[in-house]
Amino acid sequence: TLRALIAGTGGYLPETVLDNDALAARYGLDTSDAWIQERTGIRQRHLAAPGQMASDLGAAASREALAQAGLDAGSVDGIIVATATPDAVFPSTAARLQAKLGITRGFAFDVAAACTGFVYALSVADAMIRAGQARCMLVVGSEVFSRILDWSDRGTCVLFGDGAGAVVLRAADEAEAGDRGVLSCHLHADGRHADILQVEGTPGLLRMAGRDVFRHAVSKLASVVDEALAANGLATGDVAWLVPHQANLRIIDAMGRKLGLPPERVVVAVDRHANTSAASIPLALAEAARDGRINRGDLVLMEAIGGGLTWGAALARF
Ligand code: ACO
Repeated sequence: TLRALIAGTGGYLPETVLDNDALAARYGLDTSDAWIQERTGIRQRHLAAPGQMASDLGAAASREALAQAGLDAGSVDGIIVATATPDAVFPSTAARLQAKLGITRGFAFDVAAACTGFVYALSVADAMIRAGQARCMLVVGSEVFSRILDWSDRGTCVLFGDGAGAVVLRAADEAEAGDRGVLSCHLHADGRHADILQVEGTPGLLRMAGRDVFRHAVSKLASVVDEALAANGLATGDVAWLVPHQANLRIIDAMGRKLGLPPERVVVAVDRHANTSAASIPLALAEAARDGRINRGDLVLMEAIGGGLTWGAALARF
């Protein structure tokens, strides 16, 4: 049987950085750095330049992930991009990204699950590799949420940022993989809660009932994390790193406490990136791999919740 090894990770953040004060000034918002930091942990966010699309950010993140994996673009059999802010309705952002990487073989498609998108995409790619349908896949989360924000709504526009993260998955047989690779993915959706976090209209702007989202987040994430650990006969003590979706520091802290993980073992990027939706987990993974926190053999637990509602978790050993 085949396993999907995480062969490389990469991240890309657009150049422009706005801290909370600069954001408030630029859009004339009645808010403060203190309010935003206390409620969310966010200090700043990166914003894409005009004309910079999800496929551009994703291509930059993919190049780093491929370089780290020691693979060239020609070895990629398939690309999945998780995004809620695609370049266009079609062609898919994945197809645009493929062309930007100079790849002319294999397949490419997008996955839509809002902030849970990366976990969904990772699950699909893992299943395709296990099934022998691809040997090397790029799994990318890429978002330009700045394009769908209502900049007059202080309750949502302060929460999000732009960025992309990518992971290279490579097939390995059991003898090579040992206990490494993607162990399992656990996906959920409940469309009854569509209206608490949605993009309204075409072209639409993001709307959110923040309190309701918060309430669902803590209980649903706690239960999907339990599900993931139990499915693998693992306990929270086995987890080397929690890499949560980066929406809000209070949700992240609550999950760390729930798992009994000290803060040093929880990867946090929300303070500098804000919520980059489907890009937040692979961006955080890339950062923690780059700076030497996540090492070969480490068990990594990923979890996310987003519009749909959708939520999920994945366990992987690096
Ligand atoms: N600055 C100052 N005041 C603000 C701001 C702001 N940026 N935003 C809202 N307020 C005000 C509101 O207008 C309200 O004022 P009022 O009482 O006079 O009406 C007051 O603050 C309280 O508003 P709430 O929305 O109830 O504030 P809350 O404490 O719930 O914090 C927040 C809001 C931060 C959005 C919180 O609900 C939250 O974190 N929810 C989770 C949302 C989230 O993380 N979503 C993303 C996850 S899902 C995904 O990633 C797709």
